[in-house]
Amino acid sequence: MAIFEPTEENISKAAELILNGELVSFATETVYGLGANALNPDACEKIFKAKERPHYDPLIVHIHSIEQLTEIAEDIPQLALKAATYFWPGPLTMVLKKKNCIPDSITANLDTVAVRMPKHPLALALLKKANVPIAAPSANPFGYLSPTTAEHVESQLGDKISMVLDGGECECGVESTIIDFTKDIPQLLRHGGIPKEEIESICGLVMLGKAILEQPLAPGQLASHYSPDTKLVILSQNETPDKSLNYGIITHSGLNKDLRDSIYVERISPNGDLKEAAHNLFSALHRLDNQNLDIIYAYEFPEDGLGAAIMDRLRKAAFKIS
Ligand code: TXA
Ligand code: MG
Repeated sequence: MAIFEPTEENISKAAELILNGELVSFATETVYGLGANALNPDACEKIFKAKERPHYDPLIVHIHSIEQLTEIAEDIPQLALKAATYFWPGPLTMVLKKKNCIPDSITANLDTVAVRMPKHPLALALLKKANVPIAAPSANPFGYLSPTTAEHVESQLGDKISMVLDGGECECGVESTIIDFTKDIPQLLRHGGIPKEEIESICGLVMLGKAILEQPLAPGQLASHYSPDTKLVILSQNETPDKSLNYGIITHSGLNKDLRDSIYVERISPNGDLKEAAHNLFSALHRLDNQNLDIIYAYEFPEDGLGAAIMDRLRKAAFKIS
């Protein structure tokens, strides 16, 4: 695979690949996506194959306009349109009733489709050029850490795809927030780049969905997700690492005095800002996972605002089926 600069010519090439039923990885503001023409089931099948993703895990479909939304979804509630007007383009994915043009194979036979309009100018340019909805999960092998740089994609899936469009480091750094708008009261299915509180300030009450309420050990849920190969353990602020191990640390900003001689430390929020922490989270995990450590210790984050998405990713990274 090759990494391509985001020139007009390369965006046209990428759009051509998409229209020819091929895969393209591209930057979004959340994480890098692995895209295929959402209207072409054979093309989307290549996503499942490249990621080794089970078919029971449905894909998110990306669009460039509200007009495109009405081509793929129906019975769209007013509240969803309000959310779209307010949060799109941006890291909000809405689950809506799907139209028949969306193949059942990409929605795990559900009668709903998850849709979002990304904010990254490169993603929008590609969507406009191809002018078809693009199905795109995060561009990582199933269960592994999400990619937030083109290099992450190359090292994880380089032998399986022909093109990654480089849009730099993803600004947001965690995946989109997913809300199911087909319910009477909207349900949060995944914490992500827009905090629940912010969505509630526009849409009113949002309930926590089953997948979140039963985390992290709900049977049948995909708890083992976003996982580094290295074992990861979450510590509360007053716990200390086992110094007999070759360990790495992820921390908000500060570190106890006795840990300052640690070699592998990732301070992911030097300014104490959760936005910054989310932006740096996956890159830090990728770096630590490449150091051949015995263990990664992650100090817990406050769970308000973006902290909910950060702690969700860390809990899933810490969960391994033994
Ligand atoms: O930020 C993001 O959302 C990134 C970028 C590339 O846009 N994409 C992403 O896709 O995170 P992925 O495949 O890694 O996660 C999509 C999740 C699925 O695991 C599934 O749980 C949920 O979205 N999903 C998709 N369709 C759904 C549906 N119809 N109903 C409920 N959940 C759905
Ligand atoms: Mg993913």
